[in-house]
Amino acid sequence: MNMEPFDLVIANGQIVTAADTYTADIGVRGEKIACIGRGLRGRRTIDASGCLVIPGAVDVHVHLQMPLGDITSSDDWRSGTMAAAHGGTTSIVDFVDPLPGQPPLQALEERLAEAEGQACIDYGLHMVLSDVSGKTLAQLSRMIDVGIPTFKLFMAYEGKCLTDDQLYLALREIARLGALALIHAENYPIIRLFVRELLAEGKTEPRWHPRSRPAIMEGEATGRLIALAEMAGAHACIAHISCAAVVCQIRAARARGLPIYGETCPQYLVLTQDVYERPDFEGARYVCSPPLRAEEDQAALWKALADGTLQVISTDHCPWWWQDKERGRGDFSRIPGGVPGIETRLSLTYHFGVRAGRLTPQQWVNLCCTRPAELFGLPGKGKIQVGADADIVIFDPERVMPLTAERLHSQVDYSIYEDITVRGWPRATISRGRVLVEDGRFIGLVGHGRFIRRRLV
Ligand code: URP
Ligand code: ZN
Ligand code: ZN
Repeated sequence: MNMEPFDLVIANGQIVTAADTYTADIGVRGEKIACIGRGLRGRRTIDASGCLVIPGAVDVHVHLQMPLGDITSSDDWRSGTMAAAHGGTTSIVDFVDPLPGQPPLQALEERLAEAEGQACIDYGLHMVLSDVSGKTLAQLSRMIDVGIPTFKLFMAYEGKCLTDDQLYLALREIARLGALALIHAENYPIIRLFVRELLAEGKTEPRWHPRSRPAIMEGEATGRLIALAEMAGAHACIAHISCAAVVCQIRAARARGLPIYGETCPQYLVLTQDVYERPDFEGARYVCSPPLRAEEDQAALWKALADGTLQVISTDHCPWWWQDKERGRGDFSRIPGGVPGIETRLSLTYHFGVRAGRLTPQQWVNLCCTRPAELFGLPGKGKIQVGADADIVIFDPERVMPLTAERLHSQVDYSIYEDITVRGWPRATISRGRVLVEDGRFIGLVGHGRFIRRRLV
């Protein structure tokens, strides 16, 4: 047995895993958790008394530096991953989105070059499939070989939306390769019709955004996707679920034993569609797709997280400068969609989930850390276990934090949680044995983050 002191010991904390809660010390050697026990000696010891010690959180849905026409989402790899670390997230999965006609591998190389030397935490990538020609589908196995086993398929957005036959072809190939589809489930023809009709009636403000994308059609799209996935034999995860109509579809599919999974995000759990009614175009801040919904939808989402119908809480972090949101004055459909959230997920779900009695601490860890890592194939992530990566968060359940833009670290000039103060915030975030953030100060290395070659098990 190695009697040398550990490089780092996290002592006296209450360890919370997806299955258990217990008090122990964690000994770290190099980048790995080497021991979990009592009375461990370290070259450096952090006393975590009074804190929860949980796995570094895993956010499998973010959009850093995402191009949209001539604008780009406002967080780059550096600012976005630094903000993530402040909030206790140590791994993210973003997207490679090839340009029309661009070979996927070339798009991947460009995306990796952007992240290299900039990312502060580890990162993986999904691939967006908006072209399902035989030529593109023939390259999916190569993507899986290089560590990208998950593919996003869209049922919305001009230029991205796939028809049912295209969805089926993509799902069939995904099934054949044992990969996982991540689905944006909305009904684009209906959205396009409603947007045209609303604008023609002079209904141009942000308050019309949710009216153009009805919950019932998000449910319909999910049901249709589930049928296509069942025929194709594919595993699929429905992304950014906003409403009860989708929860019903997933619950029914899972009850029949289908490999259908669901992801929701804090914005759908904490905010409701009333925010779109705010005066002075303020509703534009909250424009995302699918839109925020009603209180009943929110209640259905919390219940579905607690009863296992949904497996993943991620952020769909996609911030835009206010000046870019302002492009939609006079036409709500031109407001770039997406909201900031990469830093606030763990704390919002602790405050409104665990503290409010909607989730147990173990469920919180499972939904934000362990299950996303398993489902999306991040080896060594999302667990406190000997041999796992030493990605660890020391979470102070009493620390109070106002979620104002001023206090948060994303590169964006507003917060969607401006009026909310949470109780529960990370005291320290550790990635592969290295302390990145301590007491609100970033002390990590820009460029510490590595590309994660993901593998589904
Ligand atoms: O409005 C959203 N959600 N923007 C990000 C892109 C997406 O659909 O995930
Ligand atoms: Zn989407
Ligand atoms: Zn997204």
